Amino acid sequence: MSKLWAGRFQKELDREADDFNSSLHFDSRMFRQDIEGSIAHAAMLAKQGILTETEGAQIIEALGGILADLESGALAFDAEAEDIHMFVESVLTERIGDLGKKLHTARSRNDQVAVDLRLYLRDECAEIIGLVKALLEAVLEQAKAHADTIMPGYTHLQRAQPITFGHHLLAYCMMLIRDCGRLEDAVKRMNQNPLGSCALAGTTYATDRSDTSRALGFDGYTRNSIDGVSDRDFCLELMSAFSILMMHLSRFSEEVILWSSWEFKFVELDDSYTTGSSIMPQKKNPDMAELVRGKTGRVYGSLVALLTTLKGLPLAYNKDMQEDKEAIFDSVDTVKKCLRVFAPMIRTMRAIPENMYAAAGKGFINATDLADYLVRKGLPFRTAYKIVGQTVARAIEENVVLDKLPLETLKEYSPLFEEDVYQEISLETCVSKRISAGGTGPCSVREQIAYVEDFLSERSGT
Ligand code: ARG
Repeated sequence: MSKLWAGRFQKELDREADDFNSSLHFDSRMFRQDIEGSIAHAAMLAKQGILTETEGAQIIEALGGILADLESGALAFDAEAEDIHMFVESVLTERIGDLGKKLHTARSRNDQVAVDLRLYLRDECAEIIGLVKALLEAVLEQAKAHADTIMPGYTHLQRAQPITFGHHLLAYCMMLIRDCGRLEDAVKRMNQNPLGSCALAGTTYATDRSDTSRALGFDGYTRNSIDGVSDRDFCLELMSAFSILMMHLSRFSEEVILWSSWEFKFVELDDSYTTGSSIMPQKKNPDMAELVRGKTGRVYGSLVALLTTLKGLPLAYNKDMQEDKEAIFDSVDTVKKCLRVFAPMIRTMRAIPENMYAAAGKGFINATDLADYLVRKGLPFRTAYKIVGQTVARAIEENVVLDKLPLETLKEYSPLFEEDVYQEISLETCVSKRISAGGTGPCSVREQIAYVEDFLSERSGT
């Protein structure tokens, strides 16, 4: 394909160099946004008298035809084209002759690619936010079903204090709500129109950037033409938000993997989200969770790759910036794929409350509550803490849990221990007495559920 810029050159581009330079194989996915941007641009040129009404209308009609043909498959991408912008423009010129060549008046590929990418990512973000909400619903459903299911809570992966499985899952709901917020914020900042920045300096034509902004659904236009074409902050912000989201999914995956091991057996994953081993017949592997954990590295990698690409670039556009697309596209694809399997994997996961309860009964998980018991009887917390430390040591020595130490033994450490102590340190009491706001007590868990439900219903329309 001869280059649209061929005029000042005597020789053709070397074949290998041509391939190296071409971005069509990855930027063709923005064909809709590219055409949408061109239609808005042509309409504005006509309104401003830069094109005649008829010229504008003919260009717009032909662009509509190209879009329809690409969508139906009647028109295939020409692998020889340098990028999606050049491809659409050359098909337009093939179809309507010299008039097609007028479309690029008062525009550059530099502002064109910036606008295409923003439009594309805006659509993708809406889809991703929807997928995060679908996952949030799945987690919430499990949290509601297990609002009273007692399990051990951990710090340092050591049994720490009893909690409910519902409370634990609600922690992930809070993370996912923040993830939605981060994505919405990034989209808000991204939704400014760079079209009209042209190559870098603006244009001598009397364009109307407010018009294209309105037509393309932007909240306004970028204020500095150099920034308009050089800025890729919106990609970095999105990739940061994706990285944090993936980090949450990865931590969740790690727990699902641990919980489904024989060592824990707190949950059983559904057959449809697990795989077998080619050699060990007994295996049921949590591959989906492992892959989500693994793919997190890849999303971080793209963020760091683009940050690094951009860090030494002088203003304004440099071809290095073409590298933005593979990084952000791969992140978008990866995040979507992960969310699509993660939500049903959580929805179909079966909790095993007996095992959680049995594990919570071990590990002196009610030691804090035993100390709180003494505090309620008047001892300072530090003193109570020390006494309980001694009773734990005694229980370990006798190979029993705290609840099984006889009252006479407890009394050796403090005369304040009475018969009611056993009731006070039962797992049920430990959980139900955690009445502080945001704690694992039933009242707080109910409040958290209501908070997540409110979030989902208020925003379900977006
Ligand atoms: N394919 C290019 C990119 O993705 C489009 C912009 C090219 N601009 C230029 N002046 N060569 O960045």
